[in-house]
Amino acid sequence: MVALASALAVLLLTTSTASASKFEHFKQYLHNSVGASSRQWEGTQEPVIGVVTQTLEKEMNDDPRFADYKYYIMQSYVDWLQAAGARVVPLIQGDLQNVTMDKLSKVNAVLFPGGDGDYLAFGKEVFEAVKAINDQGTCMGYENMVSYVSDEGWDVLSVYDLDSASLAVEFVVDPQTTKLYQWLGAEAYLFEDHNVTYNSHHWSMNPDKFKTDKNLSAMFTLTGISYMPEPDGRPIVASIESEKYPFFGTQFHPEKPTRIFKEDQAVNHSWVSIQLNTHFSQYFVYQARRNTQSYGNYTEVQAAIIQNYELIVTDEWYDSVYVFK
Ligand SMILES: *[C@@H]1O[C@H](CO)[C@@H](O)[C@H](O)[C@H]1NC(C)=O
Ligand SMILES: *[C@@H]1O[C@H](CO)[C@@H](O)[C@H](O)[C@H]1NC(C)=O
Ligand SMILES: *[C@@H]1O[C@H](CO)[C@@H](O)[C@H](O)[C@H]1NC(C)=O
Ligand SMILES: *[C@@H]1O[C@H](CO)[C@@H](O)[C@H](O)[C@H]1NC(C)=O
Ligand SMILES: *[C@@H]1O[C@H](CO)[C@@H](O)[C@H](O)[C@H]1NC(C)=O
Repeated sequence: MVALASALAVLLLTTSTASASKFEHFKQYLHNSVGASSRQWEGTQEPVIGVVTQTLEKEMNDDPRFADYKYYIMQSYVDWLQAAGARVVPLIQGDLQNVTMDKLSKVNAVLFPGGDGDYLAFGKEVFEAVKAINDQGTCMGYENMVSYVSDEGWDVLSVYDLDSASLAVEFVVDPQTTKLYQWLGAEAYLFEDHNVTYNSHHWSMNPDKFKTDKNLSAMFTLTGISYMPEPDGRPIVASIESEKYPFFGTQFHPEKPTRIFKEDQAVNHSWVSIQLNTHFSQYFVYQARRNTQSYGNYTEVQAAIIQNYELIVTDEWYDSVYVFK
């Protein structure tokens, strides 16, 4: 599904810019784009991201506006990706398999959203397709993604009920050696000093799983952990990435600070939070640009984008959502 330029290109970028800041990347980009080997790394300048739908949340069943629908995507994810220069096409659970596979052959990356709504089986199909079809896909997501690769499946996750909290991230490796944080240079340590990653989850993972779960640690590297608020205090996995694939995962929700303003949600809207959280969409969409697939010309993409579907505005924690039959 989500395919990327090539494994080699990813590897080159990673090794040649291991400690470069975002602005070093910009300079490299400018240099490459005027040079003879221009844009070797860039497969598209019009990235389209597939976002996986979830089944309706229980609160939605009480709202008659949802009566005709089965699946949804939160607008917060869509806005967050669009602000980084991407367009969004929904990957709808109820679609025929050939329709989903066709979309996966055209999008540049796939995002698995967080939330309580389920997409375990459909998401696994998408995940395996991304892996198999292209052997290179940019994927972002978390709980489902780890369960697809773990020795234990879903049991790799444990219950860590956390309604809503902004937490710090403690790095377990030098962030400048990671893919996900390296653009930030030493500024990545702002994540350790500020409680700006928004967490709201029933399931999470004990960092020790990376010592015991062979398939999990073969696919993903643990890069950061957070601590549950006191009195719980247990460590949880905060961020992971794959060496081999352009697959990234965060337990926290980087799409929320720019978009979710409900009072009881403990989202941190400070300027440092906005800057640090939008970093993830910029990085993700940047990676998606390596992929050479195309969704077609403007007219064809316009016919497929998520704005063709109904948007329902609510004052629930999920805010505004696109809905699907
Ligand atoms: C998927 O299959 C259905 C029924 O066989 C067909 O009508 C449709 O055109 C196919 N869609 C794509 C995108 O291949
Ligand atoms: C690890 O992954 C391989 C390949 O997918 C699978 O065959 C094996 O059963 C997995 N190991 C465990 C303990 O689940
Ligand atoms: C958000 O984070 C900033 C930076 O650490 C902090 O100064 C501020 O108090 C936080 N705001 C809330 C509402 O937690
Ligand atoms: C972040 O949260 C922890 C735990 O509640 C607290 O001890 C710390 O002072 C907070 N940091 C900032 C910068 O607000
Ligand atoms: C876009 O693609 C469609 C389908 O291939 C084609 O019919 C249409 O003419 C194209 N539009 C432009 C402006 O090239």
